[in-house]
Amino acid sequence: MSVPGGVTVTPSVQPGPSASVRQRSDGCTAVILGAAGDLARRKLLPALYQLARAGHLEESFRVLGVALEPGDDASFRQLARTAIQSAIDSAHLDDTILRWMERRLFYISGDFTQAGTFAALGARLEELERVSEGGSHNRLFYLAVPPSVFEPSVRHLSASGVAPRSDDADARPWVRVVVEKPFGHDENSARALNTLVLSLFAECQIYRIDHYLGKETVQNVLVLRFGNTIFEPLWNRQWVSHVQITAAEDVGIGSRGKYYEEAGVIRDMFQNHLLQLLALTAMEPPRTMSADAVRDEKTKVLESIRWLTPETIPTNTVRAQYAGGGIAGETVPGYRAERNVAPDSTIPTFAAVRLYLDNWRWQGVPFLLRSGKRMARRMSEIAVQFHRPPHLMFGHAVGESLEPNVLVIRVQPDEGIALRFQVKVPGTAVALTSELEVSPVSMDFCYADAFGGLTAPAYETLLLDIMIGEMTLFTRSDEVAAAWRVVDPLIRFWTEHPPTDMPSYDAGSWGPSAADALIASDGFSWRNT
Ligand code: BG6
Repeated sequence: MSVPGGVTVTPSVQPGPSASVRQRSDGCTAVILGAAGDLARRKLLPALYQLARAGHLEESFRVLGVALEPGDDASFRQLARTAIQSAIDSAHLDDTILRWMERRLFYISGDFTQAGTFAALGARLEELERVSEGGSHNRLFYLAVPPSVFEPSVRHLSASGVAPRSDDADARPWVRVVVEKPFGHDENSARALNTLVLSLFAECQIYRIDHYLGKETVQNVLVLRFGNTIFEPLWNRQWVSHVQITAAEDVGIGSRGKYYEEAGVIRDMFQNHLLQLLALTAMEPPRTMSADAVRDEKTKVLESIRWLTPETIPTNTVRAQYAGGGIAGETVPGYRAERNVAPDSTIPTFAAVRLYLDNWRWQGVPFLLRSGKRMARRMSEIAVQFHRPPHLMFGHAVGESLEPNVLVIRVQPDEGIALRFQVKVPGTAVALTSELEVSPVSMDFCYADAFGGLTAPAYETLLLDIMIGEMTLFTRSDEVAAAWRVVDPLIRFWTEHPPTDMPSYDAGSWGPSAADALIASDGFSWRNT
């Protein structure tokens, strides 16, 4: 019998820590390379607006946008206003803040492959810093640029002298360089990029973004695990039967066909977001919450993942592409019919992968990861499923219906944590096994109920951390390389063995049936909630 039950967890402090308790950032000029692009418009400018609204930005803060598109300060201000208005709910739009922001937005147009652009950038920066209120000379360079111009951009940033190297993490004024994914397209290219970047800047200046690490629930994995004593003793192969990590999206690839044809779901989601979720879930307790202590432990986990080989890939992985179909009453095209996608493309938009960790804690525990576009709904979560009770004394019928305990960390939407366990259905007798009925219920903590919807979107958290100089939520070069080492054999195998008949799944479904078969081979099923 399945009576969905819910037990709500009430926080002892309400409301919880709001964004306003966080410290203010250092004043700086945020130079956005690629300021007219999708990332700047959809994420960065709205996040900066929200930080301004929450009072986190200093008076001396400003943005200098740089992009190939012709324009000037006025057109950039208009672009930013439109971007902010379309990203943020009108109830949270405050014209005073918008105008405060606009006064701090500047723009130059230029080609990132040309030294002249960076000479002009340097001159404009100096001019702005001369008239700076509060005198901030800190510089944050955000590389929101396509991979093709990444290399010339960092070379010119350094050679022009606008972004000098400093090995002193406490240096003032500071220079920080923010790098977006994709960081390379395989381990070798990532290593080469790291070598290049580290020949120009110090590691303490480089902030490699994985925006999943800025998500509130993802950060909470560490607090849940190490800020409590009741979970950690169970967090190992003795009690955990398997871990499911899902990042399902209902959207398709949109206008990013060109990028996606090179990336596919493994480079786009697994190499970074999913492996970061796995690392936080599986890592050992770090000595402290310092950036290096946390990154050391995450790297160890990534290095302990058993390599996929041509022999193990066919039975441990599934790939597929979305076919056209209907989602929420809307007809959507299949992947091969999307703009800038080859009609015979074999790039996967969905993958399910079973990984094993060769270490003492997790030996033999399958980590089942899946991600896909155009799935039934947007849902990212980590589900730690525990073993069934070793001895069933409630009779056969009840034994059959007992669901194993699951601890679910809901990354999005509806951020929260739920523990699923069995209870006796009232009125049935525990001693009469023929009568007894049990039902799973959830003990459910929901951020919005507990803390009044105060979770900051990932980019706000990360941008503020960069301006404060906090690196824990950013990835380190060895960690990035270790993650590539996990996915490289799979990408190589799939590229070298394109399917003659590319498997597909209906848009709006939970993926191909082969993914169900993959997890069923361990005796489990996906949580398609
Ligand atoms: C990005 C991927 O890194 O993450 C996108 O490139 C994906 O393809 C996005 O849609 C998902 O992020 P979120 O925060 O919406 O889960």
